[in-house]
Amino acid sequence: MKIAVIQGPNLNMLGIREQNIYGPMTLDQIHQQMKGSADQNGVELEFFQSNLEGEIVDKIQECLGTVDGIIINPAAYSHTSIAIADAISAVNLPVVEVHISNIYKREEFRQKSVTATASLGVITGFGPFGYHMGLIALTQIINEMKAAQNAKIAAQQEQPKEEK
Ligand code: DQA
Repeated sequence: MKIAVIQGPNLNMLGIREQNIYGPMTLDQIHQQMKGSADQNGVELEFFQSNLEGEIVDKIQECLGTVDGIIINPAAYSHTSIAIADAISAVNLPVVEVHISNIYKREEFRQKSVTATASLGVITGFGPFGYHMGLIALTQIINEMKAAQNAKIAAQQEQPKEEK
């Protein structure tokens, strides 16, 4: 199983930016922690960060046929980007949106996520641990999807062939 972890603008500044809101961990430390638990569960992770909306759209499109699901923190683009929401809908992959801070507890303009309307679910407000929660949730969902697909194939194979 392979999962892409896509990080939006300014998340490369974690550990420096607004530590009172986002805490002291750097993005690299968060990714190392995720990799540790993914390795234990036989999950391959691919990490990507960009400050540019179009690059994030391109990356989501690239995920089609190459990964089983996406964990994304679109950061500030969550609140504005119809393009990222459309890309998520277009690839039709299971997507978990993560926010380090609780966006519902912050400024009004952060309390709406456009991208979340296209995602399977949102984890918000648990700090960097939210990425770990997202990984557990998405792994479970992908396993269930694969099991359902296999059951469907098995049922199709078992169907008696039509007599001529
Ligand atoms: C964020 C919340 C956004 O409002 C903000 O623009 C970010 C980070 C979070 O993880 O809490 O950059 O997505």
